[in-house]
Amino acid sequence: PLKPLSLQDEDDDEADVGSDKKKVTIFYGTQTGTAEGFAKALSEEIKARYEKAAVKVVDLDDYALDDDQYGEKLKKETLAFFMVATYGDGEPTDNAARFYKWFTESEGNERGVWLQQLTYGVFGLGNRQYEHFNKIANVLDEQLCEQGGKRLVPVGLGDDDQCIEDDFTAWRELLWPELDQLLRDEDDTNRVSTPYTAAIPEYRVVIHEPTVTSYVDKFSNMANGNASFDIHHPCRVNVAFQKELHKPESDRSCIHLEFDISGTGITYETGDHVGVYAENCDETVEEAAKLLGQPLDLLFSLHTDNEDGTPLGSSLQPPFPGPCTLQTALARYADLLNPPRKAALIALAAHASEPSEAERLKFLSSPQGKDEYSQWVTASQRSLLEVMSEFPSAKPPIGVFFAAIVPHLQPRYYSISSSPRFARKRVHVTCALVYGPSPTGRIHKGVCSTWMKNAVPLERSQDCSWAPVFIRSSNFKLPADPSIPIVMVGPGTGFAPFRGFLQERMALKEDGAQLGPALLFFGCRNRRMDFIYEDELNNFVEQGVISELIVAFSREGPQKDYVQHKMMDKAAYLWSLISKGGYLYVCGDAKGMARDVHRTLHTIVQEQESADSSKAESTVKKLQMDGRYLRDVW
Ligand code: 2AM
Repeated sequence: PLKPLSLQDEDDDEADVGSDKKKVTIFYGTQTGTAEGFAKALSEEIKARYEKAAVKVVDLDDYALDDDQYGEKLKKETLAFFMVATYGDGEPTDNAARFYKWFTESEGNERGVWLQQLTYGVFGLGNRQYEHFNKIANVLDEQLCEQGGKRLVPVGLGDDDQCIEDDFTAWRELLWPELDQLLRDEDDTNRVSTPYTAAIPEYRVVIHEPTVTSYVDKFSNMANGNASFDIHHPCRVNVAFQKELHKPESDRSCIHLEFDISGTGITYETGDHVGVYAENCDETVEEAAKLLGQPLDLLFSLHTDNEDGTPLGSSLQPPFPGPCTLQTALARYADLLNPPRKAALIALAAHASEPSEAERLKFLSSPQGKDEYSQWVTASQRSLLEVMSEFPSAKPPIGVFFAAIVPHLQPRYYSISSSPRFARKRVHVTCALVYGPSPTGRIHKGVCSTWMKNAVPLERSQDCSWAPVFIRSSNFKLPADPSIPIVMVGPGTGFAPFRGFLQERMALKEDGAQLGPALLFFGCRNRRMDFIYEDELNNFVEQGVISELIVAFSREGPQKDYVQHKMMDKAAYLWSLISKGGYLYVCGDAKGMARDVHRTLHTIVQEQESADSSKAESTVKKLQMDGRYLRDVW
């Protein structure tokens, strides 16, 4: 039989790893918690399989306080795994950024072969729909090897477009024969032959008297005035202003919203992002409570320890420090509208009182049910709530629901559409409403965009909407010298950061700066519907802040007219600006627009430079390396 899950959290100190124990470190770079969850699951399974293993799960940001320490500590590792996600335009997650930069930068590479002690494995989390599929995992895997590490198994390339849990399972299967060689004890022999089943994590729930009227909210207790806010320490800010940007003829919606950051200590730069923790709408929250069979005003707290204070096991940190009403917990902390992971189905199955429902849930999460899961859950975009409503007998306890079934609601990132030089006390956001039928016929409403659409600004009510927010800095910045030419490509809400750029240029101009040429390629469907910020744009042109505004209307004529078509029309002029030292900026949808614009750029370089395809490619690469071709894409 497998040994019970270890209840002790291994300590960092080498001293704690007894001489007969073998230290295993599992690092994670996580954005939405998936990599972190995988790291913890891997840790539990290693512990269950190998008596000898002393496993430690480490957030890459917490590993070392400064870069020198990274080197010192990493040199001593003997067996390590890296669960790392790739985000945006082939970037590491925020919590892995510092480590990744340190590890991969050129001086780092001059360290030579210094990791001879290390045996490692890398599992990447990415999405094949994006250009830089699992770039971070691949680079890390290669460089660990180049710097002397011994690769235990081939890098795992998890694809979230399909079923990333299956990719993770497949990668783990490669791992065990190798780890058997390294970690197996005589006594472990019969443990390995037993199939391993992960324990379903669970929080201990304490129900509080409803007489306690004010709960401690993770966000509302953040003292404003604290100067450093981040994803773990957001700042509560009010919505000061909100308006619709589409014209009445449009059947879609795009919201301009302004957060009031005055008095908070929040600062930002033009081109930065804002992370927003939104709330699920009432309808979603009520449905979830009904499916759980619990009242919305239930006041409870979640704990990772037993009543006697001993730890409960592998649960992640609770999403909020209690107590909190079910209403708030479901609204602010629960990701209810994404399709459930297989691990969630297993947990639901464990609490389905109807045997046929339990069987079906188990089947969906099993290897045999792979195709069914990918059809019925993934391809159909069945939300967790939809799945739960199809299995009415599955009523998990709240402690299981929050630990094993519902992921934490993640912040949404927006390119800030203002400049602090123009709006020092405000952060502007430009957000397209996500609203439309899913394959099952459910009307899918994006969590944050719906919240922004319904937000009540302070100018309309003292009881206005608020959200916990934080700033994420970016390298999407104007050239330091405003006389350098710039070309901006931003259709739809891709215009957002450029609005900040233009506000900044306006302020620079008012301060007497000489502005270089600025081309803006904007795109929308139809002038009468979704030409957002039209008046502002015309004003920027009049003021000479934009030297040329080029708009592609995709649904006015018989043929699609897109920004990249307009770029081709202007190829000679565009390239004359860039090749003479100008900057090219692209913002918007990564999978379609930015990919097509990238190809167009390649064609323009080929034509204008009379270069062959590979020469053009290296020219574009060089632009990117020089920081003169910048992309803010999602
Ligand atoms: P469409 O919706 O008519 O296809 C902002 O969303 C604008 O970007 C719209 O006009 C949209 O056109 C357009 N768009 C959609 N896909 C694009 C692509 N691959 N390249 C450039 N523009 C695109």
